Amino acid sequence: MSGSGLKAYNVADLRRLARRKLPRGLFEYVDRGTEDEHALRAMTRAIERLKFQPQVLVDVSARSAQSDFFGIPTQMPVAVAPTGAAGLLWHDGEIALARAAHRAGIPFTLSTASIISMERVAAEAGGRLWFQLYMWPEREHSLELIERAKRCGFEALMITVDTPTAPNREYNKHNGFSLPMRISAQNAWDVALHPGWFFKVFARYLLRSGVPTLENYPSQLRQRLNESHTPPKCDSLSWADLRELRRRWSGPLMVKGILRPDDAQKAHECGADAVVVSNHGGRNLDSSVPPMNALPRVLEQVGHRMSVMVDGGFNRGGDIAKALALGARGVLVGRAPLWGLASDGEAGATLALDILREELERVMAFTGVPNVSAYNPQLLHALAD
Ligand code: GLV
Repeated sequence: MSGSGLKAYNVADLRRLARRKLPRGLFEYVDRGTEDEHALRAMTRAIERLKFQPQVLVDVSARSAQSDFFGIPTQMPVAVAPTGAAGLLWHDGEIALARAAHRAGIPFTLSTASIISMERVAAEAGGRLWFQLYMWPEREHSLELIERAKRCGFEALMITVDTPTAPNREYNKHNGFSLPMRISAQNAWDVALHPGWFFKVFARYLLRSGVPTLENYPSQLRQRLNESHTPPKCDSLSWADLRELRRRWSGPLMVKGILRPDDAQKAHECGADAVVVSNHGGRNLDSSVPPMNALPRVLEQVGHRMSVMVDGGFNRGGDIAKALALGARGVLVGRAPLWGLASDGEAGATLALDILREELERVMAFTGVPNVSAYNPQLLHALAD
C-alpha cells in the first residue's frame, strides 16, 4: 500500500480531501468541465449505464490485472493521463505523480503544460514516462519539445488533437483562475482561506524560483504566456502534422482526443500506434459524445490494428473493467490520482492508484475474469437510456 495515513477508501473520499485543501479556483480547474457541463455528466452516465452480467464458477484464485502497453508489462492496463498544472496541487507535483505511477507499475504521462520541466521529471522520477504534446502555432518550438523528450528518454509520445482553441470554462473566470496561476484581488480571499496550500506549495515555488509557470515552454513562449495567461493553441493542426510527427518520433505514438472511427482510421494510416478515445475529460466541447459511447465504433474500425485506449470519468476499478470488457487496451486516469496528489503528495497518488487496482481485481473476481485479456463484451449489459 501507499503508506498514506489518509482516511480515504475510494476516489470520492480523496476528492473530498482535495477540495478542503485546495483553493476553490484550483479545485474547480481540475474538477469541472466546460460551459453547462453536459459532457462531464454524460461521460459518467455512459459508464454507469453499462452493467455486468457476471460469469460464475470460474476459478479466479490467481487473478491478475497485469497487462502490457506496447509490449512492456504494466501492473494494470491503466496509465496516468496528462493533466495540466499538476504541480500546483502539490510542490513538485508532477515528480510525485510520476513516482506514484512508477510505484504502481504503470506509465505516467507528462503534460506539455506541466509546472515541472520534463528534464527534472525524467531525472528525478524514474519509471515509464510518456510525453503529451500540445502543438503550438509555431511548429518549430513544438518540434524542439520532441527532441527534448527524446533526449530525456521518454518512452512514448501522445499528441492531443482535440484542443484547436481555448475551451470556454466560465468557472475559471468567476474564480479568477488562469495559467500560470497568479494571486490577484479576485482570488486572494480564496487563497487566504487555504494557508496550508499556500505555504506548502505556492510559497515554496516563490522562494525557490518565482511564480510557478509552465516550465516546458521555451522562453519566447513563456514570456507571452505570462502576459496573456492563456496557453497558446494551434488551430491549424492537420493530418500532415501527424505524419511529420511520425517521421520524427520512432517510439510509440498515441493520438489523444479521437471520437470517430474514421479519424481513428486516419490516425492509423498516418502511422500512429494507438488512439485515446477521449473528450478531454468533458472539458472542451460540451456536446461531445461520451468516450464510452464512441469506443465500440472506434474499436470496430481499428481495434484489430492498433491499441485503443479511453479516458474520461473513470473513478472506480469497475469503471475500468467496463472499458476493458468493451475491448479497450487500457484506460487513462487523470482526476483520480490528482485528488490523491492534492491530499498527500506521492503517498496520496499511490493510494488512489492502489484503490483503483484493488477495485479492479475485486470486480474481476465478481465477474469471473481471471486475467484482463479474458474480458469481452458479453460480460456487459447496457441499460436503456
Ligand atoms: C488541459 O489540457 C486542460 O484540460 O486544462
